[in-house]
Amino acid sequence: MLLGLPREIECKSFRVMLMRNLLKRKCPGSSRGGAMSRGAHFTGRFNSTSPFRRTLCRRSDCLAITENMLLIQHCRKLPDRLSFEEGVTIFSPMSTVAFSLYSQKPETESLRMSPPWEDGRGKYAGKSIFISGGATQVGQFALQWARLSGFGPIITTASLHNTELLKSQGATHVLDRKLPQDTIVEQVKAIAGDLVDLSYDTVVEDDTIALTAAAVKPGGQLVVSIHGKEELVTKLTKPKGIQWMIGRGLQSTEQNKGALSGLLRKLPGLIEEGVIKPTPHEVLKGGLRAVPAGLERLRNNQVSGLRLIVHPHETQ
Ligand SMILES: NC(=O)c1ccc[n+]([C@@H]2O[C@H](COP(=O)([O-])OP(=O)(O)OC[C@H]3O[C@@H](n4cnc5c(N)ncnc54)[C@H](OP(=O)(O)O)[C@@H]3O)[C@@H](O)[C@H]2O)c1
Repeated sequence: MLLGLPREIECKSFRVMLMRNLLKRKCPGSSRGGAMSRGAHFTGRFNSTSPFRRTLCRRSDCLAITENMLLIQHCRKLPDRLSFEEGVTIFSPMSTVAFSLYSQKPETESLRMSPPWEDGRGKYAGKSIFISGGATQVGQFALQWARLSGFGPIITTASLHNTELLKSQGATHVLDRKLPQDTIVEQVKAIAGDLVDLSYDTVVEDDTIALTAAAVKPGGQLVVSIHGKEELVTKLTKPKGIQWMIGRGLQSTEQNKGALSGLLRKLPGLIEEGVIKPTPHEVLKGGLRAVPAGLERLRNNQVSGLRLIVHPHETQ
């Protein structure tokens, strides 16, 4: 869920719209949102010590910390055809997948594939990918990047009512996520002709880790979209000689800083072209008061393929 708090800040002659982020803990599909700004060309100077970068609130372990990461290198003009809310669905999950697949910065965790915003578009034709949880926010961008990189087939698991959405994001095959693991792996083999070259787990629960590890061929590669399950991943991947890593999406860490600067320069063009696109979203009415009910829906698996957004300035 994203806290959308447009706040105008004067900085020299620039007006910047900020989107504040909510980081949920111990909630299903917890996510961090990022900011895309609609406004002037950002040619002014900001730095990480600017007042925008601070913790907003500390609450229980569920509604937790938020942080603004307004660094000038992260600001790009949002194409006019996208709403502000559509724009903010893109940034964080899109970046998480991009870091893990394409970052070339030595310190980052990445498969170091050729970035499709440089000369890597279509380069991985003939390679197969399996994405567990295509309807998650991260999953929808894993599908988009896989398509841009040329992967095929692009196989994913989801609730089947999301099939059309996920095909529009890049999936070639959508499998029912409720099927037993063995059945899914058999179907993956039938579609791809073998186990896949690359598996991407965007859900990262014990069963999805087991599934993604089972779906990848010996010597293949696996990405998990969040840390916390390293022991299990190591146990399952070691016997098959699978290279694995964690998708780490924060732009502001020392490790990641600057790693996607090439992408961020090209991002408005990729959005304009329609090859990177927003995910479906729902704006909850009532500002911050809508957060508990939104979290409850997430906990109860009642949010499917959607990003929930609230506007804190609408709080009464
Ligand atoms: N969002 C981000 O910016 C971000 C960035 C970095 C890391 N992460 C991490 O990545 C993970 C996913 O976050 P998210 O925000 O992308 O999730 P999300 O959109 O909140 O996830 C909700 C979706 O999860 C799917 N799902 C739940 N269990 C599943 C299963 N067993 N198999 C397949 N699909 C399943 C559901 O798919 P159906 O509706 O099809 O059933 C549902 O639509 C989290 O661990 C998060 O912390 C997120």
